[in-house]
Amino acid sequence: MLFGTCSSQVKAELLKELGCDRIINYHTENLNQVLKQEYPNGINLIFECVGKEVFDSCINNLAVRGRLVVVGFISEYAKTLEQVTQPRIYHQLFWKAASVRGFFMPHY
Ligand SMILES: NC(=O)c1ccc[n+]([C@@H]2O[C@H](COP(=O)([O-])OP(=O)(O)OC[C@H]3O[C@@H](n4cnc5c(N)ncnc54)[C@H](OP(=O)(O)O)[C@@H]3O)[C@@H](O)[C@H]2O)c1
Repeated sequence: MLFGTCSSQVKAELLKELGCDRIINYHTENLNQVLKQEYPNGINLIFECVGKEVFDSCINNLAVRGRLVVVGFISEYAKTLEQVTQPRIYHQLFWKAASVRGFFMPHY
């Protein structure tokens, strides 16, 4: 089962062509709620490139031993970095034995 996010119908069509089973338009649906309701056991593998609330929703909904790859964080480029105050991320990762790692192409 593969899910993908986007913000328009045109991109939704493309995601469908690429094989996404569930396409979440985050302008019309709440990503965190959809993931919680439709994937109660969590997501095994996430490629995340948007950042901010999308990243938070993905981390919140990782499965036990789930993995999230930080491919980018386009919502924060060229902007003042958002300062967040919340419990450190190990609280989210430890209990699920989940992991987060970066992927930056030049290092490969
Ligand atoms: N790790 C690497 O080595 C590597 C290499 C290349 C690119 N990347 C990353 O991959 C991601 C996509 O790159 P790209 O070249 O495909 O970028 P792009 O052509 O500019 O597309 C970015 C898309 O991100 C979505 N998006 C969601 N929130 C956004 C926001 N606040 N501001 C702008 N766009 C937003 C938009 O689609 P929707 O509105 O439909 O969601 C937008 O079309 C970026 O995070 C980029 O840094 C990583």
